[in-house]
Amino acid sequence: MSSGTGDAVRALSIREYVQRKQKGEKIVMVTAYDALFGRLVDEAGVDAVLVGDSLGNVIAGLDTTLPVTLDQMIYHATMVRRGVKRALLFVDMPFLTYQASVEQAIMSCGRVLQQTGASAVKMEGAGEEMAETVRRVVGAGIPVVGHIGFTPQSVHTLGGARVQGRDAGDASRMIDEARRLEDAGAFSIVLELVPAELAARITAAVAVPTIGIGAGAGCDGQVLVLPDLLGLNDRFAPKFLKRYAEMASDVRGAVERFASDVRGGKYPGSEHSF
Ligand code: KIV
Repeated sequence: MSSGTGDAVRALSIREYVQRKQKGEKIVMVTAYDALFGRLVDEAGVDAVLVGDSLGNVIAGLDTTLPVTLDQMIYHATMVRRGVKRALLFVDMPFLTYQASVEQAIMSCGRVLQQTGASAVKMEGAGEEMAETVRRVVGAGIPVVGHIGFTPQSVHTLGGARVQGRDAGDASRMIDEARRLEDAGAFSIVLELVPAELAARITAAVAVPTIGIGAGAGCDGQVLVLPDLLGLNDRFAPKFLKRYAEMASDVRGAVERFASDVRGGKYPGSEHSF
């Protein structure tokens, strides 16, 4: 929370973030894509701000995250960095910037850390090759958050945004994936669209914090996409989403009132003029 005194703000460390799990304290994460919202969510006291490649959907208006580039992620993360003083800042690695080889992953993740001032990167997937990539990226000194369950960059192979791990085989595979990511050095794991009971089992199976989105209450923390949480993205209403504001109607209403004032000669008034 903002001290309001102008004192320097102490930034949260990854160590403190991980300790939240041991202390039984829930972790709060939201996405942000620019300096203004970065500052507002930081002042609201979140633990981590994720510059998600969901910006492809909610900012760029794309159907999938696949076209998002590394340069775009770096551009947005640099803006968010200017607003976030206290929370940890994580950046999503976009499609095809880490899957081709370990070397590609180290160079891409390294660029993100070097050029944005973020604390960590997030990568989707947990196959054996991905685990090796995570191991080597962490070995290069780059903290990694994993992401399993529904992984939006694999939307086509997964057949759409569907809940993952509903049958026993998939469920046990996902528990193995989480353990593999932890062994590879990931310090936290996002679980997206996972049945609540399975997410709780995964959470119990690993020592690192799990962060759920559409994964029930048994995770160590929760993340939501900020425009969804704020009700700005009012055409998106999945079951897991709770809106904490209805900003889309606020925006439309405010702009309608402005338009009406301009057209009616009521704005600017003398109090707004020099
Ligand atoms: O891109 C994103 O915003 C994410 C969150 C949904 C976890 O990956």
